[in-house]
Amino acid sequence: MSEVHVVSKPAATQSDAQSPLIDRWGRVHHALRISVTDACNIRCQYCMPAEQVQFLGQDKQLTVDQFATFVAAVAPLGVCNYRITGGEPLVRRDVPQLLQALRNIAGVEELALTTNGMLLAEQLPDLVDSGLQRINISLDTLSESTFRQLSRRNGLDRVLQGIDAAIADQRVEVRLNALVLRDVNFDDIYGLVEFAKDRNVTLRFIEFMPLDAERSWTLSRMVGGEELRSLLTRRFGPLNPVSDATTSQPSRDYEFASGGRVGFIDAVSQPFCGSCDRLRITADGRIRNCLFGTEEWDVAKLLRRGATLEELQQLVRLAVSAKHPSHGIADPKFRPPERAMYQIGG
Ligand code: 5AD
Ligand code: SF4
Repeated sequence: MSEVHVVSKPAATQSDAQSPLIDRWGRVHHALRISVTDACNIRCQYCMPAEQVQFLGQDKQLTVDQFATFVAAVAPLGVCNYRITGGEPLVRRDVPQLLQALRNIAGVEELALTTNGMLLAEQLPDLVDSGLQRINISLDTLSESTFRQLSRRNGLDRVLQGIDAAIADQRVEVRLNALVLRDVNFDDIYGLVEFAKDRNVTLRFIEFMPLDAERSWTLSRMVGGEELRSLLTRRFGPLNPVSDATTSQPSRDYEFASGGRVGFIDAVSQPFCGSCDRLRITADGRIRNCLFGTEEWDVAKLLRRGATLEELQQLVRLAVSAKHPSHGIADPKFRPPERAMYQIGG
Protein backbone atom coordinates (compact mmCIF):
# COMPACT_ATOMS: atom_id res chain seq x y z
CA MET A 1 0.00 0.00 0.00
CA SER A 2 1.12 3.55 -0.66
CA GLU A 3 1.23 5.67 2.43
CA VAL A 4 -1.30 8.47 2.45
CA HIS A 5 -0.64 11.36 4.78
CA VAL A 6 -3.40 13.50 6.16
CA VAL A 7 -2.54 16.74 7.86
CA SER A 8 -3.97 16.73 11.35
CA LYS A 9 -2.07 19.53 13.02
CA PRO A 10 -0.13 22.44 11.59
CA ALA A 11 3.40 21.65 10.49
CA ALA A 12 5.89 23.52 12.63
CA THR A 13 8.85 25.60 11.47
CA GLN A 14 7.47 27.37 8.42
CA SER A 15 8.20 30.91 9.35
CA ASP A 16 7.50 32.67 6.08
CA ALA A 17 4.10 31.59 4.78
CA GLN A 18 4.87 32.68 1.22
CA SER A 19 8.42 31.33 0.96
CA PRO A 20 9.20 29.18 -2.08
CA LEU A 21 8.92 25.41 -2.08
CA ILE A 22 12.50 24.29 -1.52
CA ASP A 23 13.26 20.70 -0.58
CA ARG A 24 16.07 19.32 1.57
CA TRP A 25 18.32 19.08 -1.49
CA GLY A 26 17.85 22.72 -2.47
CA ARG A 27 15.53 22.12 -5.39
CA VAL A 28 13.03 24.92 -5.91
CA HIS A 29 9.62 23.76 -7.15
CA HIS A 30 8.12 25.69 -10.05
CA ALA A 31 6.04 23.08 -11.83
CA LEU A 32 2.82 21.21 -11.14
CA ARG A 33 1.38 18.38 -13.20
CA ILE A 34 -2.34 18.06 -12.80
CA SER A 35 -3.78 14.67 -13.68
CA VAL A 36 -7.46 15.41 -14.28
CA THR A 37 -8.55 11.82 -14.86
CA ASP A 38 -7.12 8.31 -14.89
CA ALA A 39 -9.48 7.29 -17.71
CA CYS A 40 -8.27 6.87 -21.26
CA ASN A 41 -9.73 6.02 -24.64
CA ILE A 42 -6.81 3.81 -25.68
CA ARG A 43 -4.69 1.22 -23.88
CA CYS A 44 -0.98 1.78 -24.58
CA GLN A 45 1.05 -1.26 -23.63
CA TYR A 46 3.64 0.85 -21.84
CA CYS A 47 0.97 2.34 -19.61
CA MET A 48 -2.33 0.52 -19.18
CA PRO A 49 -3.55 -3.03 -18.76
CA ALA A 50 -5.30 -4.47 -21.83
CA GLU A 51 -8.61 -5.22 -20.16
CA GLN A 52 -10.66 -4.61 -17.07
CA VAL A 53 -9.35 -1.26 -16.09
CA GLN A 54 -11.14 0.13 -13.09
CA PHE A 55 -11.23 3.90 -13.41
CA LEU A 56 -12.07 6.32 -10.62
CA GLY A 57 -15.76 7.12 -10.31
CA GLN A 58 -16.69 10.71 -11.05
CA ASP A 59 -17.32 11.38 -7.35
CA LYS A 60 -13.69 10.53 -6.62
CA GLN A 61 -12.25 12.98 -9.14
CA LEU A 62 -11.55 16.53 -8.12
CA THR A 63 -13.72 19.19 -9.72
CA VAL A 64 -12.43 22.15 -11.72
CA ASP A 65 -13.07 24.38 -8.70
CA GLN A 66 -11.10 22.09 -6.41
CA PHE A 67 -8.11 21.96 -8.77
CA ALA A 68 -8.29 25.74 -9.08
CA THR A 69 -8.33 26.13 -5.28
CA PHE A 70 -5.24 23.97 -5.03
CA VAL A 71 -3.50 26.04 -7.69
CA ALA A 72 -4.50 29.23 -5.88
CA ALA A 73 -2.63 27.80 -2.88
CA VAL A 74 0.58 26.82 -4.70
CA ALA A 75 0.90 29.64 -7.25
CA PRO A 76 1.86 32.22 -4.57
CA LEU A 77 4.64 29.84 -3.49
CA GLY A 78 6.30 30.14 -6.89
CA VAL A 79 4.66 27.33 -8.83
CA CYS A 80 4.24 28.98 -12.24
CA ASN A 81 4.31 26.14 -14.82
CA TYR A 82 1.28 23.91 -15.12
CA ARG A 83 0.73 20.84 -17.26
CA ILE A 84 -2.58 19.03 -17.53
CA THR A 85 -2.27 15.29 -18.01
CA GLY A 86 -4.26 12.11 -17.45
CA GLY A 87 -4.94 9.26 -18.21
CA GLU A 88 -6.13 11.10 -21.26
CA PRO A 89 -7.16 14.55 -20.05
CA LEU A 90 -9.49 15.28 -22.98
CA VAL A 91 -11.90 12.48 -22.06
CA ARG A 92 -12.94 14.95 -19.37
CA ARG A 93 -14.89 17.63 -21.16
CA ASP A 94 -14.13 20.45 -18.76
CA VAL A 95 -10.44 21.01 -19.50
CA PRO A 96 -11.21 24.39 -21.16
CA GLN A 97 -13.00 25.49 -17.98
CA LEU A 98 -10.00 24.40 -15.92
CA LEU A 99 -7.65 26.39 -18.16
CA GLN A 100 -9.88 29.45 -17.87
CA ALA A 101 -9.86 29.16 -14.09
CA LEU A 102 -6.09 28.71 -13.91
CA ARG A 103 -5.15 31.53 -16.22
CA ASN A 104 -6.89 33.99 -13.92
CA ILE A 105 -4.80 32.99 -10.90
CA ALA A 106 -1.91 35.35 -10.12
CA GLY A 107 1.45 33.62 -10.56
CA VAL A 108 0.29 31.13 -13.19
CA GLU A 109 2.54 31.66 -16.20
CA GLU A 110 2.48 28.64 -18.43
CA LEU A 111 -0.40 26.34 -19.29
CA ALA A 112 0.45 23.12 -21.11
CA LEU A 113 -1.31 19.86 -21.96
CA THR A 114 -0.15 16.31 -22.64
CA THR A 115 -2.59 14.32 -24.78
CA ASN A 116 -2.80 11.24 -26.95
CA GLY A 117 -4.42 13.40 -29.63
CA MET A 118 -7.51 11.23 -30.20
CA LEU A 119 -9.96 13.97 -29.21
CA LEU A 120 -7.75 16.91 -29.99
CA ALA A 121 -8.95 18.09 -33.40
CA GLU A 122 -12.46 18.78 -32.10
CA GLN A 123 -11.39 20.37 -28.82
CA LEU A 124 -8.38 22.37 -29.96
CA PRO A 125 -10.07 25.72 -30.68
CA ASP A 126 -11.74 25.72 -27.28
CA LEU A 127 -8.53 24.78 -25.52
CA VAL A 128 -6.45 27.45 -27.19
CA ASP A 129 -9.17 30.08 -26.69
CA SER A 130 -9.07 29.13 -23.00
CA GLY A 131 -5.37 29.93 -22.67
CA LEU A 132 -3.50 26.76 -23.59
CA GLN A 133 0.03 27.64 -24.72
CA ARG A 134 1.80 24.31 -25.29
CA ILE A 135 0.70 20.84 -26.31
CA ASN A 136 2.63 17.58 -26.22
CA ILE A 137 1.01 14.94 -28.38
CA SER A 138 2.01 11.28 -28.21
CA LEU A 139 3.00 9.77 -31.55
CA ASP A 140 4.77 6.43 -31.41
CA THR A 141 4.16 5.13 -34.91
CA LEU A 142 2.88 6.13 -38.33
CA SER A 143 1.48 2.69 -39.07
CA GLU A 144 -2.14 1.94 -38.25
CA SER A 145 -1.39 -1.71 -37.55
CA THR A 146 1.46 -0.86 -35.17
CA PHE A 147 -0.77 1.72 -33.52
CA ARG A 148 -3.36 -1.01 -32.99
CA GLN A 149 -0.75 -3.34 -31.54
CA LEU A 150 0.69 -0.68 -29.27
CA SER A 151 -2.50 0.98 -28.07
CA ARG A 152 -4.90 -1.94 -28.52
CA ARG A 153 -7.31 0.44 -30.26
CA ASN A 154 -7.87 1.98 -33.68
CA GLY A 155 -7.48 5.66 -34.26
CA LEU A 156 -4.11 6.74 -35.64
CA ASP A 157 -5.99 8.80 -38.23
CA ARG A 158 -7.64 10.77 -35.44
CA VAL A 159 -4.30 11.38 -33.74
CA LEU A 160 -2.84 12.65 -37.01
CA GLN A 161 -5.82 14.98 -37.48
CA GLY A 162 -5.22 16.30 -33.98
CA ILE A 163 -1.55 16.90 -34.75
CA ASP A 164 -2.40 18.68 -38.01
CA ALA A 165 -4.92 20.90 -36.25
CA ALA A 166 -2.45 21.80 -33.50
CA ILE A 167 0.35 22.58 -35.95
CA ALA A 168 -2.00 24.71 -38.04
CA ASP A 169 -2.92 26.82 -34.99
CA GLN A 170 -0.10 29.33 -34.71
CA ARG A 171 -1.03 30.28 -31.16
CA VAL A 172 0.12 27.03 -29.59
CA GLU A 173 3.55 25.37 -29.39
CA VAL A 174 3.46 21.71 -30.41
CA ARG A 175 5.82 18.87 -29.50
CA LEU A 176 5.50 15.20 -30.29
CA ASN A 177 6.36 12.46 -27.78
CA ALA A 178 7.49 9.05 -28.96
CA LEU A 179 8.07 6.04 -26.77
CA VAL A 180 9.89 3.19 -28.48
CA LEU A 181 9.46 -0.43 -27.43
CA ARG A 182 12.11 -2.57 -29.04
CA ASP A 183 9.67 -5.36 -29.85
CA VAL A 184 6.86 -3.15 -31.16
CA ASN A 185 7.75 0.14 -32.86
CA PHE A 186 11.52 0.15 -33.21
CA ASP A 187 11.26 0.39 -37.00
CA ASP A 188 9.25 3.59 -36.71
CA ILE A 189 12.03 5.83 -35.44
CA TYR A 190 13.21 7.10 -38.83
CA GLY A 191 9.71 7.72 -40.16
CA LEU A 192 8.78 9.62 -37.01
CA VAL A 193 11.84 11.84 -37.28
CA GLU A 194 11.07 12.55 -40.95
CA PHE A 195 7.46 13.34 -40.05
CA ALA A 196 8.61 15.87 -37.44
CA LYS A 197 11.33 17.35 -39.67
CA ASP A 198 8.80 17.87 -42.49
CA ARG A 199 6.48 19.73 -40.12
CA ASN A 200 9.21 21.59 -38.28
CA VAL A 201 8.13 20.36 -34.86
CA THR A 202 10.29 18.87 -32.10
CA LEU A 203 9.98 15.13 -31.60
CA ARG A 204 11.05 13.83 -28.21
CA PHE A 205 11.98 10.24 -27.51
CA ILE A 206 10.99 9.14 -24.01
CA GLU A 207 12.67 6.13 -22.44
CA PHE A 208 10.27 3.43 -21.34
CA MET A 209 10.04 3.63 -17.55
CA PRO A 210 8.92 0.86 -15.17
CA LEU A 211 5.51 2.46 -14.71
CA ASP A 212 3.36 0.24 -16.89
CA ALA A 213 0.38 -1.41 -15.26
CA GLU A 214 1.30 -4.88 -16.51
CA ARG A 215 4.84 -4.77 -15.16
CA SER A 216 6.24 -5.76 -18.51
CA TRP A 217 9.16 -3.34 -18.27
CA THR A 218 12.60 -4.74 -18.92
CA LEU A 219 15.77 -2.91 -19.78
CA SER A 220 15.97 -4.78 -23.07
CA ARG A 221 12.47 -3.67 -24.15
CA MET A 222 13.50 -0.08 -23.55
CA VAL A 223 15.41 1.69 -26.32
CA GLY A 224 17.79 4.13 -24.64
CA GLY A 225 18.57 7.65 -25.76
CA GLU A 226 22.19 6.93 -26.52
CA GLU A 227 21.32 4.17 -28.96
CA LEU A 228 18.71 6.38 -30.60
CA ARG A 229 21.13 9.28 -31.01
CA SER A 230 23.68 7.07 -32.64
CA LEU A 231 21.14 5.50 -35.03
CA LEU A 232 19.73 8.90 -35.97
CA THR A 233 23.16 10.40 -36.52
CA ARG A 234 24.01 7.57 -38.86
CA ARG A 235 20.82 8.14 -40.85
CA PHE A 236 20.39 11.91 -40.79
CA GLY A 237 23.88 13.27 -40.03
CA PRO A 238 25.30 15.17 -37.05
CA LEU A 239 23.15 16.20 -34.10
CA ASN A 240 24.11 19.41 -32.32
CA PRO A 241 22.95 20.07 -28.76
CA VAL A 242 20.65 23.05 -28.30
CA SER A 243 20.92 24.86 -25.00
CA ASP A 244 17.59 25.37 -23.36
CA ALA A 245 17.05 27.89 -20.61
CA THR A 246 14.03 26.19 -19.08
CA THR A 247 15.34 23.89 -16.39
CA SER A 248 12.00 22.22 -15.78
CA GLN A 249 12.28 20.66 -19.22
CA PRO A 250 13.61 17.17 -18.69
CA SER A 251 14.36 16.72 -22.36
CA ARG A 252 17.77 17.33 -23.92
CA ASP A 253 17.25 18.84 -27.34
CA TYR A 254 19.40 18.56 -30.45
CA GLU A 255 19.28 19.98 -33.95
CA PHE A 256 20.28 18.09 -37.04
CA ALA A 257 22.79 19.94 -39.18
CA SER A 258 20.35 18.93 -41.94
CA GLY A 259 17.50 20.76 -40.14
CA GLY A 260 14.88 19.60 -37.63
CA ARG A 261 14.90 19.15 -33.89
CA VAL A 262 14.77 16.06 -31.68
CA GLY A 263 14.79 15.75 -27.91
CA PHE A 264 15.55 12.89 -25.57
CA ILE A 265 14.04 12.21 -22.18
CA ASP A 266 16.52 9.69 -20.85
CA ALA A 267 14.63 9.19 -17.63
CA VAL A 268 16.12 5.77 -16.96
CA SER A 269 19.66 5.94 -18.37
CA GLN A 270 20.41 9.54 -17.33
CA PRO A 271 18.00 10.54 -14.58
CA PHE A 272 17.38 14.26 -14.24
CA CYS A 273 16.27 14.09 -10.61
CA GLY A 274 18.95 16.59 -9.58
CA SER A 275 17.13 19.41 -11.32
CA CYS A 276 13.60 18.18 -10.67
CA ASP A 277 11.28 21.07 -9.89
CA ARG A 278 7.97 19.21 -10.11
CA LEU A 279 5.07 18.23 -8.00
CA ARG A 280 2.02 16.30 -9.07
CA ILE A 281 -1.59 16.13 -8.09
CA THR A 282 -3.60 13.07 -9.05
CA ALA A 283 -7.19 13.05 -10.29
CA ASP A 284 -8.34 11.85 -6.87
CA GLY A 285 -6.55 14.68 -5.12
CA ARG A 286 -3.33 13.19 -3.83
CA ILE A 287 -0.10 15.17 -3.95
CA ARG A 288 2.91 13.21 -5.19
CA ASN A 289 6.44 14.52 -4.99
CA CYS A 290 7.88 12.04 -7.51
CA LEU A 291 6.62 9.83 -10.34
CA PHE A 292 8.22 6.90 -8.57
CA GLY A 293 7.32 7.91 -5.04
CA THR A 294 5.49 5.56 -2.73
CA GLU A 295 4.00 8.30 -0.56
CA GLU A 296 1.00 10.52 -1.23
CA TRP A 297 -0.57 13.44 0.62
CA ASP A 298 -4.35 13.63 0.70
CA VAL A 299 -5.42 17.05 -0.48
CA ALA A 300 -8.91 15.90 -1.53
CA LYS A 301 -9.92 15.56 2.08
CA LEU A 302 -8.83 19.12 2.82
CA LEU A 303 -10.55 20.50 -0.26
CA ARG A 304 -13.82 18.73 0.58
CA ARG A 305 -13.96 20.24 4.00
CA GLY A 306 -13.21 23.71 2.69
CA ALA A 307 -9.71 24.02 4.15
CA THR A 308 -7.94 27.38 4.02
CA LEU A 309 -5.15 28.13 1.53
CA GLU A 310 -2.72 28.05 4.45
CA GLU A 311 -3.76 24.50 5.34
CA LEU A 312 -3.32 23.43 1.72
CA GLN A 313 0.09 25.08 1.65
CA GLN A 314 1.16 23.24 4.80
CA LEU A 315 0.33 19.92 3.19
CA VAL A 316 2.29 20.85 0.06
CA ARG A 317 5.27 21.79 2.20
CA LEU A 318 5.13 18.40 3.90
CA ALA A 319 5.20 16.70 0.50
CA VAL A 320 8.13 18.83 -0.64
CA SER A 321 10.12 18.28 2.54
CA ALA A 322 9.75 14.51 2.15
CA LYS A 323 11.16 14.48 -1.37
CA HIS A 324 13.98 12.03 -2.00
CA PRO A 325 17.13 13.01 -3.92
CA SER A 326 16.39 10.65 -6.81
CA HIS A 327 14.01 7.95 -8.00
CA GLY A 328 16.48 5.13 -7.53
CA ILE A 329 15.49 3.04 -10.55
CA ALA A 330 19.06 1.82 -10.80
CA ASP A 331 19.00 0.59 -7.20
CA PRO A 332 18.57 -3.21 -7.00
CA LYS A 333 16.08 -2.61 -4.21
CA PHE A 334 13.95 -0.39 -6.46
CA ARG A 335 10.26 -1.28 -6.53
CA PRO A 336 7.89 0.46 -8.94
CA PRO A 337 5.12 2.50 -7.32
CA GLU A 338 1.79 0.84 -6.78
CA ARG A 339 0.04 3.16 -9.20
CA ALA A 340 0.78 2.99 -12.92
CA MET A 341 1.46 5.95 -15.20
CA TYR A 342 -2.16 6.53 -16.13
CA GLN A 343 -3.09 6.87 -12.47
CA ILE A 344 -0.25 9.24 -11.67
CA GLY A 345 -0.15 11.46 -14.71
CA GLY A 346 2.85 11.37 -17.06
N1 5AD B 1 7.37 5.19 -19.46
C1 5AD B 1 7.62 6.41 -19.99
N2 5AD B 1 6.66 7.24 -20.45
C2 5AD B 1 5.40 6.82 -20.35
N3 5AD B 1 4.26 7.39 -20.72
C3 5AD B 1 3.24 6.57 -20.40
N4 5AD B 1 3.70 5.43 -19.84
C4 5AD B 1 5.06 5.56 -19.80
C5 5AD B 1 6.11 4.74 -19.34
N5 5AD B 1 5.89 3.53 -18.80
C6 5AD B 1 4.22 8.68 -21.38
C7 5AD B 1 3.90 8.50 -22.85
C8 5AD B 1 2.99 9.61 -23.16
C9 5AD B 1 2.80 10.33 -21.87
C10 5AD B 1 1.37 10.63 -21.64
O1 5AD B 1 3.24 9.49 -20.85
O2 5AD B 1 5.01 8.62 -23.64
O3 5AD B 1 3.53 10.46 -24.14
FE1 SF4 C 1 -3.77 6.49 -22.44
FE2 SF4 C 1 -1.60 8.05 -22.36
FE3 SF4 C 1 -1.66 5.77 -21.00
FE4 SF4 C 1 -1.58 5.70 -23.66
S1 SF4 C 1 0.00 6.55 -22.32
S2 SF4 C 1 -2.93 4.46 -22.35
S3 SF4 C 1 -2.74 7.45 -24.18
S4 SF4 C 1 -2.94 7.51 -20.62
